[in-house]
Amino acid sequence: MPDIEQLTRDARSDLEAAATVAELEAAKVAHLGRSAPLVLLLRDIRELPPEDRGRVGKAGNVARKELEALAASRHDALAAVELDDRLRADAIDVTLPARSMPRGTLHPLTQTRRLLEDIFLGMGYDVVDAPEVESEWYGFTALNTPVGHPARNPSDTFYVAGHDADAGANDDALILRTQTSTAQLRAMQLRKPPLYVVHPGRVYRRDDIDATHSDMFHQMEALAIDEGLTLAHLKGTIESFLHRLFGEELDVRLRTHFFPFTEPSVEADVQCFSCRGTGDPSAEDAASGAFDRCRVCRGEGWIEIMGAGMVDPNVLGVVDGYDPERYSGFAFGIGIDRVAMLRHGFPDLRMLFQNDLRFVRQFAGRP
Ligand code: DAH
Repeated sequence: MPDIEQLTRDARSDLEAAATVAELEAAKVAHLGRSAPLVLLLRDIRELPPEDRGRVGKAGNVARKELEALAASRHDALAAVELDDRLRADAIDVTLPARSMPRGTLHPLTQTRRLLEDIFLGMGYDVVDAPEVESEWYGFTALNTPVGHPARNPSDTFYVAGHDADAGANDDALILRTQTSTAQLRAMQLRKPPLYVVHPGRVYRRDDIDATHSDMFHQMEALAIDEGLTLAHLKGTIESFLHRLFGEELDVRLRTHFFPFTEPSVEADVQCFSCRGTGDPSAEDAASGAFDRCRVCRGEGWIEIMGAGMVDPNVLGVVDGYDPERYSGFAFGIGIDRVAMLRHGFPDLRMLFQNDLRFVRQFAGRP
């Protein structure tokens, strides 16, 4: 007579070892099918001596129930795994209609930056790159900015490493540059004169953030170095540039100013493109009653737009091949964010950096 306990152990281990539904079905046939030893034993129970029938029948039925339950639960588990695998393999349904790809738009800052670059490319300038993390030497020393200048103070400038509070300066200290003027030295070191380059990029200042201030913003630097360049070339270049940017008929004026790395230094103003210099509110603004003067220039008639000047001979003298006796140059720096605000007439600088799509999408397709 077959040993029921042994049959049950064998069946259990085969059912448990089955790794697929198909293997499980084979094990079920072998151990619970019509010709399985346990099933035959139960079918032929009558052939046993009468005193054994009850005990063997009972044990055989208990074993069969246990094995059937085990087979059922293994089936559920294996079927679930196989379904998962199938779903994963079928993840791409090529018959589904394609999802449409929304077309992106250029960020208003990118648009403005490209416009500025285009204007200068048209005047024969190259666009160059320069690092945002700079040494104090590039940031200040080489730009003729003396030790003790407020811009060198860590309350104005983000120091990344090496700030020397006692000496007040450390040429090797690392800063986040506060102005794109750092690109002047970088460009001079890479190229020989004549040099006509612009460099747009990010700058960083420790500043409280409000509608017109940010601790990160964008500038574009222009630098021209050649034989015989004068303030007249600077003024002509600024005028052509601002005319292209804001309108051909607008006046441009230069006011004297001070920057450490230019001599003389100026600030350039462009006549307000909105009120054309009168300072009056637009007809629409006047009609609304909410404005009694021009909103763009605040009634000044002029918009202060950039710092500029003739490159200081001390800066030229820093780089070999730029003999200040032979070469002269001019430079200027303009805030790209501010130009974007002026062009599009939005009131808060922070809108540029919040990436609210409702704001950004308004500039889709603009030049
Ligand atoms: N770097 C100056 C600033 O951040 C702007 C500036 C002034 C740039 C005069 C120049 C320049 O190139 O010549 O305010």
